[in-house]
Amino acid sequence: MRHYRATAEAHPNIAFIKYWGNRDHALRIPSNGSISMNLAGLVTRTTVVFRPDLPADRLILAGQPRTGQALARVVRVLQRVRQWSALAWYAEVRSDNNFPTGAGIASSAAAFAALATAAAAAAGLSLSTQALSRLARLGSGSASRSVPPGFVEWLAGKSDAASYAVSIAPPDHWALADCVTIVTQGHKAVGSSQGHRLAESSPFQAERLATAPQRLQLCREAILQRDFAALAQVVEDDCHLMHAVMQTSSPRLLYWEPATLAVMHAVRRWREEEGLPVAYTIDAGPNVHVLCPADHAPAVRQRLEALRGVQQVLVALPGGGARVVEA
Ligand code: PMV
Repeated sequence: MRHYRATAEAHPNIAFIKYWGNRDHALRIPSNGSISMNLAGLVTRTTVVFRPDLPADRLILAGQPRTGQALARVVRVLQRVRQWSALAWYAEVRSDNNFPTGAGIASSAAAFAALATAAAAAAGLSLSTQALSRLARLGSGSASRSVPPGFVEWLAGKSDAASYAVSIAPPDHWALADCVTIVTQGHKAVGSSQGHRLAESSPFQAERLATAPQRLQLCREAILQRDFAALAQVVEDDCHLMHAVMQTSSPRLLYWEPATLAVMHAVRRWREEEGLPVAYTIDAGPNVHVLCPADHAPAVRQRLEALRGVQQVLVALPGGGARVVEA
């Protein structure tokens, strides 16, 4: 007998060109396209079981039952799966990360990419990468980018059907490392779902959106040509534009801590004064993602670990896409 169960895995991703602000908040259709790299080694594993005896959907994260907003976002994705598959049963969702939650690594991208992939398989749907990316997007925008493998672009689109991510290059295209530099383990004060709603209140958002296509183009080319210097330039430009928007929205969002700035200054010094190929980017939190060619990662990691305020450095190479591991 079919048992309506599947397990999937997915990686988080780091955005080189950021997603900040939505055209449609409910459907998470973004105001601009974005580009990212999946992070190998960091993994979310999610099992979905649809059962006739459940009175409602149930979510268990790292062994703890969760309700409220966390559950509501999961239900959103499950509802869509029920719609597409005509399955009426509720589901139990169990999800675990191999990296510590609250370690400041955005886990929602991996979580919803794994959820979409597992839920579709459990319901017996055989969906394209494109459809799975759309499904993951409903839970968390950046999750759409954790579905395809390697280096990924999320095509903003203007409708649910047109807003999904595609692979620009496979993981083995370029041995690039992300040295995830953790400066605080705390949970962020304002999460990204709320942050996206504030983006338009900044006078700089319109300018950021108007020039995003140029940066997307520069980033795409830098990846395809494996041009680290060009990537470094556009990634830092784009990071500062997003944080300028965050820091000038009402209310203001300031995610940086003193240690965040210490890492930013050090990276710039290493690059400009010592010629080291390094660049930084920062999401909606204080931790810094330091990018470098993989052969430089051991030395970069050692330097980062020696900086005051740095708690831990995790090194991730380009990762694959979301996949079913048990069905
Ligand atoms: O997918 P969300 O709603 O968690 O938003 C992600 C926002 C950033 O991490 C700041 C940027 C990005 O493109 O990943």
